[in-house]
Amino acid sequence: MGQSFEPVSQEAGVTPELLEEGRLLFAGQAEFFWAAAKADGLPPMGAPEFAFAGRSNVGKSSLLNALTGRKALARTSHTPGRTQQLNFFAIGGEPGQERLRLVDMPGYGFAAVSKEKIASWTRLMRAYLSGRASLQRVFVLIDGRHGVKDSDHDMFKLLDSSAQSYQIVLTKRDEVKKSDVEPCIAATMKALEKHPAAFPGVIFTSSRTGEGIGELRAAFARVLAERGL
Ligand code: GTP
Ligand code: MG
Repeated sequence: MGQSFEPVSQEAGVTPELLEEGRLLFAGQAEFFWAAAKADGLPPMGAPEFAFAGRSNVGKSSLLNALTGRKALARTSHTPGRTQQLNFFAIGGEPGQERLRLVDMPGYGFAAVSKEKIASWTRLMRAYLSGRASLQRVFVLIDGRHGVKDSDHDMFKLLDSSAQSYQIVLTKRDEVKKSDVEPCIAATMKALEKHPAAFPGVIFTSSRTGEGIGELRAAFARVLAERGL
């Protein structure tokens, strides 16, 4: 909303000042403080929140660890569907005095899940995404090796209908051939054409090598600066 067109490349538009502000945002404390498995179990609103959504196994928890420079702040797993609740992390200060919050969301698109589980996932997501005034942006992670799937489009639709600001982050860049990087970004931008509410910029990250992590931190700094937070 009210966003001007952004160049596709992740490097463009990222100033040294924003990179430094982003670095500082994540240089302090990082602490898990709340898990919500049900819609009525959300923590009271407080510091600005940024959430990570994406298919199971896309690398949400790993990205959260990479951003904060902690190895095991958020639990990662080889078994898809491990994170079943909304996990809240306080960043840059003791819980209650944090600068911002990260929210690790339960993954979707995992085939071996009961209808009941899907329904409770949907309830929890809707409850969180609607009327969470402190939520600044949802980063939707897409596996760079696989691209945008149908279940991702469902997520985009859910975000469109919740009127939430969201942005795509491609993951596992270290697993993608150099020559495939630009085509992958272009294909992702193309898939977003039907979703004008999405922020028109894609960041390609690797939690393993750290590529794109500085740019992603800068994206946080930019949102906070633009909103005077
Ligand atoms: P759920 O909680 O199940 O939804 O998964 P998740 O999205 O949190 O994924 P998680 O961070 O647990 O990572 C899933 C798997 O992908 C793990 O085996 C990670 O080691 C691996 N992984 C995550 N990020 C990267 C990356 O940047 N590069 C590579 N090569 N592997 C990664
Ligand atoms: Mg996880």
